[in-house]
Amino acid sequence: MASQVLLLVLLAIICSVALASDPSPLQDFCVAVPNSPVLVNGFVCKDPNLVEANDFFFSGLNITGNTANGLGVAVTPVFTTQLPGLNTLGIAMARIDFAPLGVNPPHTHPRASEILTVLKGSLEVGFVTSNPGNRLIKKVLHTGDVFVFPQGLVHFQRNVGHGSAVALASLSSQNPGVITIANAVFGSKPAIPSDVLAKAFQVDENVVAILVNGFVCKDRNLVEANDFFFSGLNIAGNTANGLGVAVTPVFATQLPGLNTLGIAMARIDFAPLGVNPPHTHPRASEILTVLKGSLEVGFVTSNPGNRLIKKVLHTGDVFVFPQGLVHFQRNVGHGSAVALASLSSQNPGVITIANAVFGSKPAMPSDVLAKAFQVDENVIASIESKF
Ligand SMILES: *[C@@H]1O[C@H](CO)[C@@H](O)[C@H](O)[C@H]1NC(C)=O
Repeated sequence: MASQVLLLVLLAIICSVALASDPSPLQDFCVAVPNSPVLVNGFVCKDPNLVEANDFFFSGLNITGNTANGLGVAVTPVFTTQLPGLNTLGIAMARIDFAPLGVNPPHTHPRASEILTVLKGSLEVGFVTSNPGNRLIKKVLHTGDVFVFPQGLVHFQRNVGHGSAVALASLSSQNPGVITIANAVFGSKPAIPSDVLAKAFQVDENVVAILVNGFVCKDRNLVEANDFFFSGLNIAGNTANGLGVAVTPVFATQLPGLNTLGIAMARIDFAPLGVNPPHTHPRASEILTVLKGSLEVGFVTSNPGNRLIKKVLHTGDVFVFPQGLVHFQRNVGHGSAVALASLSSQNPGVITIANAVFGSKPAMPSDVLAKAFQVDENVIASIESKF
């Protein structure tokens, strides 16, 4: 009994650590005004009535970064500075280009976990657990592989393929911060101690059948690189369905190392005319980039405005969907389309509006729906019969 109480205390500590990421949004969005003289945590908000689709948009992630430098690496960030709509949403994205033999040297992100997928080439990646273990957990990744770097831990990537390599990373903060270890340790002015690392997750091994927020932790001595790894995001999903869309999730269920880290990834394939229908993620903001084709995307602000903010995206464009808001994507290009989305939760949840409203079991009372949608109950019955 005493050990179970201790366990719960430890789990509570872990939960509070896991929640120590960006603060939750307090409104639909808070588009950054970068040059305001008012100092807040992040940026002050643009007048919501002046907000437009371009505030949630960034273009050019299809452009190769310039790796002509000593390390042979180039990081193209899509943070709040580049995409003002990310302000308060707790998520961001970056493209990383590697020349042959290029190295993204050991660094930490003090405010973010990072989930990374390889678009091209082969990378060796790894991170080091915190004191006292300092274990290196590493793995070689190929196209379509996914790896997660826990918040605050020292990590690196290097190109071990024959040509150049490209990775797409998402981070669980609008402003993850970067501390390059070599620079911070040997180049700081004045010198500061180097032992500022996030605390390790520690838990009793006696953890059977206890419900926690997320999943219980594997014994950290048994943890291996494959726990932080997922393979197959280069494989097109099967879009042969009524909507012409396929979502391939990389959530904590598929990648156990995501547990407590507040981030996840998904590949979305669209057939020609394919639609990812209006849905919400109750627990996550979403940042999406187009790898192939053209998508029309949009989201609707909450009551009373219910404004639709939409935009057509092409390859390399980035768009952000604020937490909990109804949003959709549809293929408006000529062929198939592919997008990569990252979400600010290990388990974002999906509520597809049509299914939730018209397909619930048991059904919502039809007079409630008839009033809500201001149509005849026969219309509701006819729609419900399709679910
Ligand atoms: C990036 O994609 C845009 C369309 O979104 C296209 O106009 C541009 O040529 C592309 N650039 C590269 C380098 O592929």
